[in-house]
Amino acid sequence: MKAHIAVLAGDGIGPEVVVEAQQCLEAIARRYGHEFRFEAAPVGAIAIDTTGSPLPDATLALSKASDAILFGAIGTPKYADPTLKVRPEQGILKLRTELGLYANLRPVTCFESVIDASPLKPELLVGVDIMVIRELTGGIYFGAKTRTPTSASDVCTYTVPEVERIARLGARLARERRGKLTSVDKANVLETSRLWREVVVRVLRDEFPDVALDHMYIDAAAMHLLRRPADFDVVITENMFGDILTDEASMLPGSLGLCPSASLGDGPRGMYEPIHGSAPDIAGKGIANPYATILSAAMLLRYSLGLTTEATTLEQAVVGALAAGVRTGDLKPRGAAATTREAGAAVLARL
Ligand code: IPM
Ligand code: MG
Repeated sequence: MKAHIAVLAGDGIGPEVVVEAQQCLEAIARRYGHEFRFEAAPVGAIAIDTTGSPLPDATLALSKASDAILFGAIGTPKYADPTLKVRPEQGILKLRTELGLYANLRPVTCFESVIDASPLKPELLVGVDIMVIRELTGGIYFGAKTRTPTSASDVCTYTVPEVERIARLGARLARERRGKLTSVDKANVLETSRLWREVVVRVLRDEFPDVALDHMYIDAAAMHLLRRPADFDVVITENMFGDILTDEASMLPGSLGLCPSASLGDGPRGMYEPIHGSAPDIAGKGIANPYATILSAAMLLRYSLGLTTEATTLEQAVVGALAAGVRTGDLKPRGAAATTREAGAAVLARL
């Protein structure tokens, strides 16, 4: 098949990890006879520096014209001050809304060969395979914001259709997996959560009676995720809860560097990025972990291009590289840490 892939590498370690993922996609294309055309564009701090905007019009236009977007990371120390008017984060938030990418899939999988890299006890981690779906274009992130000298507010709003589409996606994915859906909210306190829960209950009752549904408050979910992570299958939750819960969940596999993501909307086009940030402290050193971005590229193959076999091949190549002991510094290597390039090459060698 032919595919046009926008490459938005961004800042910090973004370009270093994205180049490895792109090479893996090129190898997959060669092996399976596909034609992938890659086109790069600036986003984030580098885009502010060169154009004044964290999401230049040309980058947005390219993203809209592409079949899928491979994204790195955004942010540099220069723009770390959260009170700045123009910030790199605005680029990614605008991409999500402009492209209608309302569902953020964040799989959390423990790879057996690196279980010792996790700060958690290994016996808790056996069989951990969670799919968190974070609502991505609603809630407190996008509500009205006010500020006076003595007060501030952020409005959190959810509509019924916004919750319905997440509930349906979660239930569909649960059906293909272990048939279990956990909806995380704060319905004992928040009105948006009471709406969320009501809608989820109705959608599951009317459309997915075969999927087992349970509800958890966000505070309890944060605890159970560490206490009994293997019990979770698919988790759905609102924007900010999902942001926080998935950073916590990344400690199950042991590193943010093993956690990919897919941001999806109604059509096949999606944006694929590691959930880690731009890591300015190690940027430019060639030591960042590229596996999360490579696993994101596998999600791109699966969800935007429908290439299931190719996606599995790429994921298995990462599993193979990890099993062979090719570990970057974040994965508690036993000997010398692998460089970004070496980790990428170990995956390529298995394609
Ligand atoms: C993420 C990030 C973003 C978010 C930031 C960079 C705006 O933390 O993708 O999880 O909060 O959504
Ligand atoms: Mg986050």
